[in-house]
Amino acid sequence: MSAPTTEQVLDVLRTVQDPDLHKDIVTLGFVKDVTIDGGAVRFTVELTTPACPVKDQMKAEAEQKVMGLPGVTSAQANMTADVRARGGFGRQAVPGIRNIIAVGAGKGGVGKSTTAVNLALALRETGARVGLMDTDVYGPNVPQMLGIHAQPEVSEDKKMIPPEGHGLKAISMGMLVPPDQPVIWRGPMLHGAVQQFMRDVAWGELDYLVVDLPPGTGDVALSMAQSVPMAGAVLVTTPQDVSVSDVRKAVGMFRQLNIPVLGVMENMSGFVCGHCGERTEIFGEGGGERLAKDMGIPFLGSVPIDSRVRSGGDEGKPILVTYPESPAAAALRSVAGKVAAQISIQAMRVLRVIQTA
Ligand SMILES: Nc1ncnc2c1ncn2[C@@H]1O[C@H](COP(=O)(O)OP(=O)(O)OP(=O)(O)O)[C@@H](O)[C@H]1O
Ligand SMILES: [Mg+2]
Repeated sequence: MSAPTTEQVLDVLRTVQDPDLHKDIVTLGFVKDVTIDGGAVRFTVELTTPACPVKDQMKAEAEQKVMGLPGVTSAQANMTADVRARGGFGRQAVPGIRNIIAVGAGKGGVGKSTTAVNLALALRETGARVGLMDTDVYGPNVPQMLGIHAQPEVSEDKKMIPPEGHGLKAISMGMLVPPDQPVIWRGPMLHGAVQQFMRDVAWGELDYLVVDLPPGTGDVALSMAQSVPMAGAVLVTTPQDVSVSDVRKAVGMFRQLNIPVLGVMENMSGFVCGHCGERTEIFGEGGGERLAKDMGIPFLGSVPIDSRVRSGGDEGKPILVTYPESPAAAALRSVAGKVAAQISIQAMRVLRVIQTA
């Protein structure tokens, strides 16, 4: 039987949809380098994020469909990714940083920092280049959570070199403030510090910069929104009603600041007993999902209560690294995939607006 043509291969790949972007992978421009050697077909599928949650499914479908063409004896899709930058209009983008993701919610202690750390690690695990920035001046716990004790070194061009923890580059307000010295930060000082963090850190090339926001008012979020284009915000809530109503306010705030809300994640939802396996809904159930539906924003998933999440945070050994197979780690990984997918969706939307303008 004669070998298939490139046109035939592309035609059949036009029937493979990206479920998040609602277009086929050829129209999206993802298919590259089709080579046909007798009956052996190889091609590259370049996605917009290595953290794509349906990567394996799309690979299998593409290969299977190409295999179905007459004359094909083998089909191999090489899955790669090129993370697109969230286009910044008007405001100065940070060179080298493609997407800035804020993690926040109005309420304190719901697990923002824990989420930020594990989200960053989960994105990095997929092969993305990731940095983490802790903007909480009063309770900077990212260094502890990542087990970083070093201070940033200063490069020749006077930039702070972010120390690494578990392979993740991280910088924290805590690295700039002596631990026993309480500092009263006024708005302008905070703004200055955020500016410095954006400009004067030698991040190198990053696909994602995850920013851990402090609890409370939106000072830091406001300051960031004024200075850099943000890919979006991930909101964290516990299932309790009071926390959910705080997120509702946060959604309003981010919308006002023109920061896209990538979705809401429910943390500490349900406790699974280590002995009998029974699940107890300590803080109630389903608040995050209901809120997401109500407000028309994506629901990113629920992360259960697990004492290993807490101990991992205290000891600088995040659950994603120490118990990668645990349900909490799996949930956090799934949240990361959804966040990356949402960013790709937002980036495509921006692109479409530009193309039709
Ligand atoms: N899913 C979970 N299971 C068990 N413990 C958790 C979970 N998520 C967070 N924790 C613990 O809850 C505490 C608060 O979490 P974290 O510091 O991440 O919250 P936060 O929202 O950043 O707080 P703050 O508002 O003070 O910045 C920490 O001790 C953390 O280890
Ligand atoms: Mg925190």
